[in-house]
This record gives sequence, structure tokens and C-alpha cells, in this order.
Amino acid sequence: MKYRLETEMVHGVHQTDPHTGALSMPIYQTSTFVFKDSEQGARRFKGEESGYIYSRLGNPNTDVLGEKMAKLEGYEAGMVTGSGMAAVSNVIFATAQAGDHIIIDDTVYGGTHYLVEDEIRHLSIEVSRVDAADLNQVAKAMQKNTKMVLIETPANPTLKIIDIAGVVDIAHQGNALVCVDNTFLTPCNQLPKKYGADIVLHSATKFISGHGDVVAGVVVGQKDFIKKAFKIATHYGWTLAPFNAWLLLRGLKTMALRVERSQENSVQIAQWLEKHHAIERVYYPFLESHPQYELARRQQTGGGAVIAFELKGGYEAGKFLMNNVKLCTLAVSLGDCDTLIQHPASMTHAGMSEEALKEAFITPGMVRLAVGIEHVQDLIEDLDQALVKYRG
Ligand SMILES: Cc1ncc(COP(=O)(O)O)c(C=O)c1O
Repeated sequence: MKYRLETEMVHGVHQTDPHTGALSMPIYQTSTFVFKDSEQGARRFKGEESGYIYSRLGNPNTDVLGEKMAKLEGYEAGMVTGSGMAAVSNVIFATAQAGDHIIIDDTVYGGTHYLVEDEIRHLSIEVSRVDAADLNQVAKAMQKNTKMVLIETPANPTLKIIDIAGVVDIAHQGNALVCVDNTFLTPCNQLPKKYGADIVLHSATKFISGHGDVVAGVVVGQKDFIKKAFKIATHYGWTLAPFNAWLLLRGLKTMALRVERSQENSVQIAQWLEKHHAIERVYYPFLESHPQYELARRQQTGGGAVIAFELKGGYEAGKFLMNNVKLCTLAVSLGDCDTLIQHPASMTHAGMSEEALKEAFITPGMVRLAVGIEHVQDLIEDLDQALVKYRG
């Protein structure tokens, strides 16, 4: 029986302990597993008998999490990794080798950008960076050796939306796979599988954890692909610890509620910011002023819980806001219970040249708000007291 997503997040893959009946899955905090005899050890290593061997090669907590995420995203199989970046690396390594070509949207997460520029290009994997919101650019970038197109939608920081079905159409004509980083929306708000995406990945550090206490990644796709990706992950050692998988399984049980609340807060805050005299512009997919509002409404069931906005006072106003909020917490990341705020120009991207900032669409007065589950009025009052104090 297939239930609705909210029910699957609570029940989903069976987690009750068969030995004791414990409702909460035990943490299999073990590095290795005992064999009955040498023959059993041999059978397991040869793959003739299923069962655990060693936690880098598989562990009940990580396995159940991978399976549950696959079910939620609508794919055959899933696996987990020690970070979201390990998930991105895993997908690239499982789709392309030296001599191959991949296409990546120009506004991916900074870590993904640096992975590609500083590491992947040195492995003789050709990379094209395009604005995938413009499908012509994707079509133009396709080559005979293109193996994969990687996109994030909405993309940081302007929350640009990419037409997943449009990208899939083009990529599949050239036999390339499409991977969507669904970190910002989660299956609660967007199912890339519906639009034909072959692979979905997550930084599970964000909404899946939800409590700011785990760094982890998820990759889901067809069985054969995950088998290949999993083998690579075991070779490179991109394994997730059992306790972290357990925390994520717990996080999933409340994810629908957390996403719903933080996104209700986000809509109200985005609408309020749009009317505020100190604000130049607000970026949020479910605001009618968003240039791709129609596409966002079609492709997503919610606007998500990340808002970007530009302050009229520019760089100094951004710094002032950071130093004067009392409830919003100055930290990077998103998808947590706590609302996190950051000013890229003076914080995460402080070392970048003006030119590089422009390329990354980061203006001096841009602020990113990752909305949490607090009472919305407290958040609005906190932002307002800091915004009105600025006398630039
Ligand atoms: C969209 C997106 N993808 C991937 C990552 C990388 O994830 P992690 O920090 O868990 O390695 C992040 C991190 O912020 C992200 O926002």
C-alpha cells in the first residue's frame, strides 16, 4: 500500500526492531559484523549471501535511510554519504570519466562550483557552465561526450528556477543523464522524478536533518546507477556514520511539518519584506514578482523556506543588519528549526573580487534568510527592529 508523502515520512520503510519490537530503530554503532564461520565470511564477500560485513560497505541504519529516501523521491534505490558534497562528487564520478563532458548550471552551491573548478577539471572531465534557465544554452552546450547535466532549482542566491522537464528533454536526446540537487525543496515541495530526472541528490544536512546537528548526503536513482555509485562511495570512503543516519531517520519523521511551517513563515516574511521601505528587492519563488513565478507554481508545490533580499543601503546596511538581529541567527546553512541569516558580501563571499561576486549574482546588499519554524511575528519584529535602526 502506498500512502501519501506525509505518512510515508513517518512510516515508510520498516524501522521497528524485529528482535525486541523497539519502535525506534536501534543504532547499529558498529564498525564490523561477526561471521558464523569462515564459509559464511567467504559467501558474503563473494556476494552469494546477503548480510553485513563491515560498516563502510553497508550498515542497517544507512541502508534504511537510503531506501526511505528512494521511496520518498520515487526512485528504485538510494544511498547515503558522509556529506552533501560527497553526494555531488559521487554523482559526478558515477556519470563521467576522463574524456567525458558534463554540463552544470552557473548558479550551483559554492561548494559544487569549487569542486568542479578546482578538482573535476583536473581529472580531464570537460565541464560547461551554462544558465540552465535558458534551455537554448543547455542545448548549445550538449556534445557527443556529454554524460550528465547537473542543476539545482531553485538556485542560490537569486532563487532562479530551472525547467526540469525542459532540461531532461534536451539531455535525453543526447543520452545524457539529468541530476537535480533537491536540497532546497525536498520531496515535500518538488519531485524531479515527475519531470524525468534520472538522479536526485540532497545535502541531508539541511531539511532532512532539520536540527542543525548532522552533515550528510543522499543520492537516489535507478538500481543499476545506485549500485555503481555505491561501489565508488565505498572505494573513496564517503560513508555516513550509523548514528548520523539514525538522526536523519528521526528528522524525516517531522520533515513535512517543519517544511510546512517554515514555508508558511517564508511566504509571510517575503510579502512583508516586499513592502518594507529599507528593501530594494525580494527573491522568493512564490512571490508574484518572481520572474519565473508561473514555472515555480507549475513545478513546485511550495515556495520553500529560503528568501533572498537586497537592502537599499547596500553593503553597510547588510553588515548592520547582521550585527543587529537578535533572534535570527548569524550562520550559514538552511532547513533548520532556527532561522539563519547571512550576508554573502561580508561573510561567505568576503574574499571574492567584485567581478566574481557579479558572476555569482551576489550584490553588496544581498541577504539570505533561511527561515525556521519559530513564530513568524517574532521573526518579523526582529528583522524590523534591526532594519529601522539603520541610518546609512
Ligand atoms: C544546494 C546544496 N547542495 C549541496 C550542498 C553541500 O552539502 P554539505 O554541506 O552537506 O556537504 C549544499 C550545502 O549548503 C547546498 O546548499
